[in-house]
Amino acid sequence: MQTITTRRIPFEFPEDIEPYWKADMPEWCAFLNGLSLTMPYLEPFLIRSVREAAESITDERIKADAKSFIEQEAQHFSQHRKFNELLKRKGYEGLANIETEMEVSYKKLDTKSLRRRMAYTSGFETMTLGLTRFLVDKRCWLFRDADPRIASLMLWHIVEEAEHKNVAIDVYRAACPGYLSWAYGLFHGSFHVIFYSIKGARFMLKQDGMWKLKNKLAFAGLMASFAATWFPILVRSLLPGHHPSKILDPEWVGEWVQEYHDNEGIPLLDTHHDQIPARFT
Ligand SMILES: [Fe+2]
Ligand SMILES: [Fe+2]
Repeated sequence: MQTITTRRIPFEFPEDIEPYWKADMPEWCAFLNGLSLTMPYLEPFLIRSVREAAESITDERIKADAKSFIEQEAQHFSQHRKFNELLKRKGYEGLANIETEMEVSYKKLDTKSLRRRMAYTSGFETMTLGLTRFLVDKRCWLFRDADPRIASLMLWHIVEEAEHKNVAIDVYRAACPGYLSWAYGLFHGSFHVIFYSIKGARFMLKQDGMWKLKNKLAFAGLMASFAATWFPILVRSLLPGHHPSKILDPEWVGEWVQEYHDNEGIPLLDTHHDQIPARFT
């Protein structure tokens, strides 16, 4: 059984971090910034759903995993919130309007049944399996020469998503099972988050005069590349009875976990290295 570790990492996001932290891929930076913006709204919702569902579960292992899941997600959104505040300070105050929209949207979701909320939660968590593959396997394309502070934040987060990939579905199946609502939740959770991520990205790029045909094509290319990685995982995930433990994590994820175990602190990666190995600088 894989252990789920709570890592309280003192990431810092000083003012010298550029909003486009990988100079040659502004569209990618804007998308991940948009995704980061969703985290302080999405992840507290995931936590609330899992916490409530876990109350009715008697399986001690699943209950313990749910606790670890909550601890990891709480770390994630608090780190992203620090970065998001930096973005707003650096001239993107308008992102606050999207935050308000998300706050309203998640409040509305909170009124839905536990099954709907847990289907969304475990569905979204299933989507992260595709994101893990995409970010890790294509890290040299997506993070080479990027600001290591942001690359390291994103890759830390996705390593922990791999670590707790089984939890939400185990909680869902133990507390409020149902295939059709889960399949609906998978699409709902995934596209709801992607929608707001794109909205944040578009806001930034538009403000900077980078929402032209060339940028839109680059953005579409990124989305297509992600979809190509995600689609096979999506199809497998939709098979009735499928479990995320059957999807292997990239080796790099295990190497990162070992490296952190040996060298705690801020897990800063060397983005100038042509392999971006799981070694901290
Ligand atoms: Fe997370
Ligand atoms: Fe997660």
